[in-house]
Amino acid sequence: MAHRSLIDSLTGLVTCDDLPEALPPGPMALLVDWFEQARRNERYDDPNAMALATATPDGVPSARIVLCKEIETSPAALVFYTSYESRKGRELEANPHAAGVFHWAHEKRQARIEGTVVRSTPEESDAYFRTRPLLSRIGAAVSPQSREITSRQRLVSDAIKLGTRSALCGELERPPHWGGYRILINSVELWSARSGRLHDRARWTRDQDASAWSVSRLAP
Ligand SMILES: Cc1cc2nc3c(=O)[nH]c(=O)nc-3n(C[C@H](O)[C@H](O)[C@H](O)COP(=O)(O)O)c2cc1C
Repeated sequence: MAHRSLIDSLTGLVTCDDLPEALPPGPMALLVDWFEQARRNERYDDPNAMALATATPDGVPSARIVLCKEIETSPAALVFYTSYESRKGRELEANPHAAGVFHWAHEKRQARIEGTVVRSTPEESDAYFRTRPLLSRIGAAVSPQSREITSRQRLVSDAIKLGTRSALCGELERPPHWGGYRILINSVELWSARSGRLHDRARWTRDQDASAWSVSRLAP
């Protein structure tokens, strides 16, 4: 009986690929498809949450969650917003390489990306800043992200002062220390959980200036 259920499980493995047997030459259509599927899944609070790893020029790593605001296919890139003076901002200014990981638990999928990082243009950051709720704009303006502060009450009182001023005089400009980063993607790995830990896994890589991707299927 035990043998019968093992044979059923093994037979099931044959037809349960998530990635196509013939992998596409480039990863971006699949990556966007997985991202969009997660975004349509109402069980997630933040389907675009991504662990972002940066490192100092000496190679000392650090990681935190950011929200991916855009995945672009041509050229392959991913955009997030933050303070340029935060720890991650300072690390990226000194060492413009980053890695990101999405974990879409309900689909049992993981996507990893790596690449070099450039700032978004000021116009792009302005345009995105304007779409943010006023309170988030105020928060970005008053928070010296990642710096030591004397008290949270002081921060809140700065936010109240700025909020009152901007309510009186209208617009709140994007502070120059806050804006977008674009990761120019040169590696994508897609991973999908399968039974028996025989997960489905593939990686696409390319040189930063080359347009063609190399693709390999990896052992789980
Ligand atoms: C769900 C979630 C989403 C977040 N999104 C962002 C974001 O988009 N940008 C950002 O700067 N920080 C974001 N944060 C806060 C960061 O994780 C981090 O605490 C902050 O950016 C400071 O990191 P740093 O000191 O390493 O620069 C988010 C945190 C969580 C838990």
